Amino acid sequence: MGERFTSILAAVLAGAAMCVATAQQRWIASLSDRGLPAPGARWLPWSDDERHPANRVFQLTFFVDFVPAEVGFALPAESTRAAEHGPDGRYFGKRAGGPADRRLFGGDGLQLPRESFSESEAKALRDALDALSGDAILSLRAETAACAFLQCDLLRMARRLLDTGSNPELLAPLLQAARRLALPRATLSDHELSTFSIAQAATIEPEIEPSRLVEIERRSTRLFDAEHSLLWSRVFLEWPTTATRQLREELAAVAAGEKPSVPVGARAILIQGIVALDDQGKPCATDLAIDVRLQRFVGALDALAAAASTTRDGVDFRVFWLERETLRRLAGKTTIADFRELHDDDQVLFRDYGTPKHTTLSAQCTLCHRTSGTPEPELAGFPLLRKHAQPRIASSPRARMELAERQFATFFAELEAAAK
Ligand code: HEC
Repeated sequence: MGERFTSILAAVLAGAAMCVATAQQRWIASLSDRGLPAPGARWLPWSDDERHPANRVFQLTFFVDFVPAEVGFALPAESTRAAEHGPDGRYFGKRAGGPADRRLFGGDGLQLPRESFSESEAKALRDALDALSGDAILSLRAETAACAFLQCDLLRMARRLLDTGSNPELLAPLLQAARRLALPRATLSDHELSTFSIAQAATIEPEIEPSRLVEIERRSTRLFDAEHSLLWSRVFLEWPTTATRQLREELAAVAAGEKPSVPVGARAILIQGIVALDDQGKPCATDLAIDVRLQRFVGALDALAAAASTTRDGVDFRVFWLERETLRRLAGKTTIADFRELHDDDQVLFRDYGTPKHTTLSAQCTLCHRTSGTPEPELAGFPLLRKHAQPRIASSPRARMELAERQFATFFAELEAAAK
């Protein structure tokens, strides 16, 4: 990931020196805390006016200054412990957080760091949500993409509070503000909202042949179930022409109970995008993608390439998240080049297992996508190829979007009941 990142950074630097300067001040660049939000940085996701109620909601929900429940041994400061923990220490090693681990987490990214609110924070959030009305809402409603993204943030916060059982008093104000941001289905269905298309993949990785990418439907884990993520997720695979079994045969073999055999060079692209709530109270999967992940099986035979991969045992990832502020500044006209590419060593507060854990991006991805030290090495880091995930060629480009709408509806019914 490193070299490509540097070349992209150079291109960005040449094109937009100003933007990078701001980004560097916002995301810490020094290794010890790389990728965490810089304390004191200014974030203006929804408006140039820092005090705009939408910015205040963002400040209160997308940042948390606290002691994480868990600290991963992948962090630079934990390297001694990782070494003592054996070969897998970097991914699996972790300890409980203590007062010295207190940090500011969050920022204009994908992961929602908040678990709950103190009484005074809850009051501030209520005030900001109430202020999200009248003129403040009118201008937001004129920007479909921003409106859908902000609404998704509010609903994800509500989802989190349902999950943690905290601050039930905030559910109704979050729901009401989300409803005030609800747009007509025809507006939300506009393909102009698209922020990423599969054809763009080749612009960031020229070896990708978009015409060979095949969408796969599958039975998702909770991680990619819109009842929990509130996002649709689509996966495309590219199988090398040199593979002994072509993709269709491979999927048939998996369905028949055979172990998958993943050829070196196999690729996946995972895209997650926003399911919005329309003005009739119905979910609408929009074309607004906010998370793009590229995956490539490097294989273990080329030891150098494997060691340089994200998992360090043969699976390489590149991760791109769309910043809200970028979307606003470009008035929704973005391509993948406008997304923020994360670095393997960037630190994030993850809660994939329900517990806030401070670790690096690569260590987190490696937990579920490694090829060694796992009972299922044949997956080669592609859990989608598990038999019970029922991977199959997608029946239509809308299938995963429609599934996400049904899953979202389940969440929304739960929220409506809880917010009464
Ligand atoms: C908690 C386990 C877990 C973690 C952590 C995780 N994933 Fe996954 N990932 C999965 C599962 C399970 C699937 C299979 C698809 C599904 O469930 O719908 C998957 C699928 C994918 C795919 C599609 C192809 C495939 O099957 O591998 C990509 C790409 C991907 N993940 C990227 C990432 C990246 C990048 C990270 C780190 C930011 C990450 N994942 C972290 C569990 C995880």
